[in-house]
Amino acid sequence: MTYKLLILPGDGIGPEIMDAQKRVLGWFGKNRGFDYTTEEDLVGGISYETYGEPATDAMMAKALASDAVLFGAVGGPQWDKLPFDKKPERGLLRLRGDMKLFANLRPALCFDALKDASTLKPEIVAGLDILIVRELTGGVYFGQPKELVTLSTGEKRAVDTQIYYAHEIERIARVAFELARLRGNKVASVEKSNVMVTGVLWRETVHRVHAAEFSDVELVDVLADNCAMQLVRAPKTLDVILTDNLFGDILSDEAAQLTGSIGMLPSASLGARLPDGRLPGFYEPIHGSAPDIAGKDLANPIATILSFGMCLKYTFGRVDDAVLIDKAVERVLAEGYRTGDIMQPGMTKVGTKGMTDAILKALDKLNG
Ligand code: NAD
Ligand code: IPM
Ligand code: MN
Repeated sequence: MTYKLLILPGDGIGPEIMDAQKRVLGWFGKNRGFDYTTEEDLVGGISYETYGEPATDAMMAKALASDAVLFGAVGGPQWDKLPFDKKPERGLLRLRGDMKLFANLRPALCFDALKDASTLKPEIVAGLDILIVRELTGGVYFGQPKELVTLSTGEKRAVDTQIYYAHEIERIARVAFELARLRGNKVASVEKSNVMVTGVLWRETVHRVHAAEFSDVELVDVLADNCAMQLVRAPKTLDVILTDNLFGDILSDEAAQLTGSIGMLPSASLGARLPDGRLPGFYEPIHGSAPDIAGKDLANPIATILSFGMCLKYTFGRVDDAVLIDKAVERVLAEGYRTGDIMQPGMTKVGTKGMTDAILKALDKLNG
C-alpha cells in the first residue's frame, strides 16, 4: 500500500527542519520498505503572502485526503499585526479543527546523554519520561465569542471564551487512561476547578470515566499552577498529564526544557478513526518557527525527526521503525553531536544538516 503524506514546512525554521525530516523519510523509503508519496503545500505566513490566507481550501482538501500530515512551524514577527483570522497561527488551528485532531500527545523524555543539558539539576531530570495528553480542539482556542471590540466610550474590550463539553473531556480522558496503561499507569488530571467552571466539569467528567472504565489506573487531580511547580520541583513523580488546550500548551513548553531544549519535543495530534479506516494524524515539533535562528542552519531537527517516529508508530503501526528513530537519536547524542540549543562543553557542535547527517549514519549502523 502506498501511503499519501502531505508535507507543510511553513515559516521560519520550518523549511530547514522539514528538509531534515524529508531525508529521514527518504531513508525509510529506501531501507525499510516504507512505501509513500508526498505532496507539499504552503501554510502560515508564506501561504498568506502567496494566497492571502494562512490555510487555503485546496491545502485543507489535501490534508483531509492524506494518510498523515507532517508539519514544520508557522509564524513570525512580520505577520504579528495582521487581522486575527489572517495570522499564520490560524492556519495551524484550522488544520487542527477541520481535521478534528482532538488528542495531542507530547512526550517529554530526557535522553541520558542530555541529563546535564537541562537548566535543572541532572538528578531531577535523569530518566524523565512524561506524556502530556493535551485536548486540542476545544477550550479557549476555539470557544466563541472571541472578539476585540472598541466600545462607544472608545475603550477597547477583548473576549476569549473557554468552553468544554462533557463529551470532549470524556474522549480525551479515555486517550490518557488508555496510554497510561501502556506505561506508568498513573494519570494527573490538570485543571483549575478552584476558579473555573470548565475545571469543575473537567474534574467531574474525568472521575466519571475513570470510575466506569479505568479504575485500575491511578488518578490524581492537580491544579494547573501546582502542576507547573511540580514539573520543575519533582517532574519524575508525574507520568501522564491529562489537561486542556491552553494548560497543555504552556506545560509542554515547560516540560520541554526538562529534556534539554524545546528543540527535542515531538508531538502527534490524532482524531477519531474515520469510516474508511484512516486515523487522522498530524505530526509536528512542539516548538515554533524560531525566527531568531531561521535560515542559519542552527535549528535542532530532533523534535521534528522524532515526530516522524510518532507518525510511523501511530499512523502506520510501524513500531520497530519508530524505535529505530528513537535509538538513532539516542546514539548521536551519546556520540556527542549537539546543536547549539543543547550544546555542552567538550561536545561536537553541528548544525541542522550536520545533526541530520549524523542521525542518518546512525540509522545505517543500527539497520546493520
Ligand atoms: P519558538 O518555539 O519559535 O522559539 C522559542 C525559543 O526557542 C527561541 O529562542 C528559538 O530560537 C528556540 N527554538 C525553538 N525551536 C528550536 C529548535 N528546533 N532548535 C533550536 N532552538 C529552537 O517560540 P516563539 O519565539 O514564542 O514563537 C515564534 C513564532 O512561532 C510565533 O509566531 C509563534 O506564534 C510561532 N509558534 C508556532 C508554533 C507552531 O507552528 N506549532 C508553535 C509555537 C510558536
Ligand atoms: C503549539 C503552538 C500553537 C498553540 C500556536 C502556534 C497556535 O504554541 O503548538 O504549541 O498554541 O497550540
Ligand atoms: Mn506552544
